[in-house]
Amino acid sequence: MRFTLLFTLVGLAVRALAQSSAADAYVASESPIAKSGVLANIGPDGSKSQGAKPGIVVASPSTSNPDYLYTWTRDSSLVFKALIDQFTTGEDTSLRNLIDDFTTAEATLQQVSNPSGTVSTGGLGEPKFNIDETAFTGAWGRPQRDGPALRATAIITYANWLLDNNNSTYVVNTLWPIIKLDLDYVASNWNQSTFDLWEEVNSSSFFTTAVQHRALREGATFANKIGQTSVVSGYTTQADNLLCFLQSYWNPSAGYVTANTGGGRSGKDANTLLASIHTFDPAAGCDAATFQPCSDKALSNLKVYVDAFRSIYSINSGIASNAAVATGRYPEDSYQGGNPWYLTTSAVAEQLYDALIVWDQLGGLNVTSTSLAFFQQFSSGVSAGTYASSSSTYQTLTAAIKTFADGFLAINAKYTPSNGGLAEQFSKSDGTPVSAVDLTWSYAAALTSFAARDGKTYASWGAAGLTVPSQCSSGGSGGNTVAVTFNVQATTVFGENIYITGSVDALQNWSPDNALILSAANYPIWSITVNLPASSTIEYKYIRKYNGAVTWESDPNNSITTPSSGSYIQNDTWR
Ligand SMILES: *[C@@H]1O[C@H](CO)[C@@H](O)[C@H](O)[C@H]1NC(C)=O
Ligand SMILES: *[C@@H]1O[C@H](CO)[C@@H](O)[C@H](O)[C@H]1NC(C)=O
Ligand SMILES: *[C@@H]1O[C@H](CO)[C@@H](O)[C@H](O)[C@H]1NC(C)=O
Ligand SMILES: *[C@@H]1O[C@H](CO)[C@@H](O)[C@H](O)[C@H]1NC(C)=O
Ligand SMILES: *[C@@H]1O[C@H](CO)[C@@H](O)[C@H](O)[C@H]1NC(C)=O
Ligand SMILES: *[C@@H]1O[C@H](CO)[C@@H](O)[C@H](O)[C@H]1NC(C)=O
Ligand SMILES: *[C@@H]1O[C@H](CO)[C@@H](O)[C@H](O)[C@H]1NC(C)=O
Repeated sequence: MRFTLLFTLVGLAVRALAQSSAADAYVASESPIAKSGVLANIGPDGSKSQGAKPGIVVASPSTSNPDYLYTWTRDSSLVFKALIDQFTTGEDTSLRNLIDDFTTAEATLQQVSNPSGTVSTGGLGEPKFNIDETAFTGAWGRPQRDGPALRATAIITYANWLLDNNNSTYVVNTLWPIIKLDLDYVASNWNQSTFDLWEEVNSSSFFTTAVQHRALREGATFANKIGQTSVVSGYTTQADNLLCFLQSYWNPSAGYVTANTGGGRSGKDANTLLASIHTFDPAAGCDAATFQPCSDKALSNLKVYVDAFRSIYSINSGIASNAAVATGRYPEDSYQGGNPWYLTTSAVAEQLYDALIVWDQLGGLNVTSTSLAFFQQFSSGVSAGTYASSSSTYQTLTAAIKTFADGFLAINAKYTPSNGGLAEQFSKSDGTPVSAVDLTWSYAAALTSFAARDGKTYASWGAAGLTVPSQCSSGGSGGNTVAVTFNVQATTVFGENIYITGSVDALQNWSPDNALILSAANYPIWSITVNLPASSTIEYKYIRKYNGAVTWESDPNNSITTPSSGSYIQNDTWR
């Protein structure tokens, strides 16, 4: 009996040492390869991105089975967020020109008309473009509404650094217009269905909701900081609505986050872990409302997700039920054979490293009834309670969790070929690389997991201390509208009329030809009542038409934030 226990302990210690030294070795060898792997896939000078315009991220240089020689807004923004974090924290000060190329390229792409629309009619939701910055016009799962949110987050991170470095002119004149387009898009469209990050399911998606919430939350703070106060309340209202909606993905009886509202699957999906690590806020503690990496919900979810892969990949067979395994996108996956992915396996490690950072900061951890099964993997006798960092329970648990996390990197290490190249997937039966070679996101995911293992954290985005509204609102664009009356005082000559157009369908999307005519019944007050999306920030202008000539009001655009219900009267004077 005592010998068995001793052998078990020795076995655990040996496994811990083996896992952590495998992870140490992998971090040392793979870091420079992953960094150059990312840079090789960015135009114009990246060695594997010929033909890409400056700042354009090629998803992978693979041109057939699959052809990934395109640029996705999601992948590019996640990749550049990692580079911007390296730049703004001083880890790599050489990246500035590349980051400027990225923001310039994205500003161009925003204006490219594409099958999802123009910049003002939904085109920002287009998922991918050709690498020469032209539209991709083939059939695709569109729109994907996470892209604008992730891009706003990346650029805001850079813009905050520029503000700290006395360059607010550039921020306000050049970056804010790019950021604002994306945030306005998110604020107006978050409650519409979207294809998920895997481009397959058209419904609502946890990852998309989570990153949209983050973008609007930090966007409101950022706008306020640079004096763009007119958008703040609209963004904050929609951020609150998103935070409310985010809670609905939690499945309390099964203890995990259901990734999509559609799709007909279990809903166990790396989508949810990626959401947790890409909305990690080191100042938010173990808050469960935003599914922080160390929150009880996110930990329970991690266990359910990881366990879903234990028996479906043969390379996982024989691995202890509480040790790391290879994981994929979701257990029902059949794309390219349905294999484990490097970036999902490293995401598990990253969530756990993030959790360890916060527990260390807070000086303790809580085991709740929700996270009990997760913690019992590492100490079967543990019970719900608070464990200070001085306690032996804390030390046992965190040491085992570190080993567990390192185990996921050790899995990737084991199945990374000797040249360090990271494809999209590795075979579930023999671990050899599968699908697109040199996937930029695989490299970026390796880098962010290594940074988390190193204890690195990045700027907070405002997740701390949020209150979930007691009642969820669809925020308007899901169907709620409010009647808005526009009154404008304008003197006109006989035969001249006043019209309105603006940034939403109901105001004809800035079309002077289709602008809505106002009534002169109370001349010189011209009026019209229009049903507009509730709780939305909407821009508009009045125009005059006389003898076929169109005259616009002078700049800037007018802006209103509509209430959540009821009606509203806006009184203006022609400018
Ligand atoms: C920014 O300007 C302020 C005031 O002019 C100065 O105190 C500060 O050192 C500057 N910061 C940087 C990073 O240049
Ligand atoms: C502000 O930052 C932009 C982008 O890097 C740069 O082009 C510009 O020269 C900077 N301006 C100042 C005054 O530093
Ligand atoms: C996605 O779902 C929405 C809502 O059900 C539907 O209106 C839209 O047509 C769907 N889009 C595609 C491309 O199937
Ligand atoms: C543990 O829970 C208490 C009470 O809810 C909370 O104040 C504390 O911040 C939590 N600690 C951690 C590490 O989550
Ligand atoms: C819109 O918001 C409401 C309220 O949160 C929610 O019930 C509904 O599922 C949302 N629809 C979409 C497509 O996001
Ligand atoms: C007004 O909005 C239109 C359409 O989004 C935009 O092109 C224009 O630049 C805006 N005008 C100003 C002064 O911001
Ligand atoms: C516009 O004027 C009407 C009275 O004519 C008033 O009831 C309404 O509150 C005013 N709207 C705003 C936004 O001030």
